[in-house]
Amino acid sequence: MSSEEDTSQTSSSSSSSLPPPASHFIGRKEDIVKAGRVTKLVNGCRDVLVLYHQGQLYAMDMHCYHSGGALKNGDIEQEFNGLLCIVCPWHKYKITLEGGEGLYQAVDDPLAKPLRTHWRSKGVKQRIHKVTEVNGDVFVTLNESGEAIESDVYQTEKYRTSFLKAKTKNEVRK
Ligand code: FES
Repeated sequence: MSSEEDTSQTSSSSSSSLPPPASHFIGRKEDIVKAGRVTKLVNGCRDVLVLYHQGQLYAMDMHCYHSGGALKNGDIEQEFNGLLCIVCPWHKYKITLEGGEGLYQAVDDPLAKPLRTHWRSKGVKQRIHKVTEVNGDVFVTLNESGEAIESDVYQTEKYRTSFLKAKTKNEVRK
């Protein structure tokens, strides 16, 4: 999907007093705003990061599509057509918050000096989920589109088990 196409899985406020069907409660908005970022296993099957930035809530798969990095520790930057991106702390890949697009730096002319670069999209790499706020409660509706997205790889039971094992081992070493 290109940046021009609709990638609207972003947050919204609901005037209705009911959460959307098939949505999952994440927490109180005030608590998420205070924390800045929260992670949660949603519906027993998906590790989701919900973050609050400049008045907006976003939700995406918690592990970076590249190699499973912890996006909850990533900085937020503005890089691509004015879009906000999260920068994975592991290898600095940039992912747009609204669309989950992976970005890369393209070079106009490799022989030109100095090199001129600009950001381009690799397409959607990170699964973005829909966030809804109802009366101060925040809900996530999982994006269950059948199209495979690279971050899906880190949402399997096998990965979760090995990730938890590695995490526990690291904590024991400290
Ligand atoms: S794991 Fe995120 S950039 Fe490599």
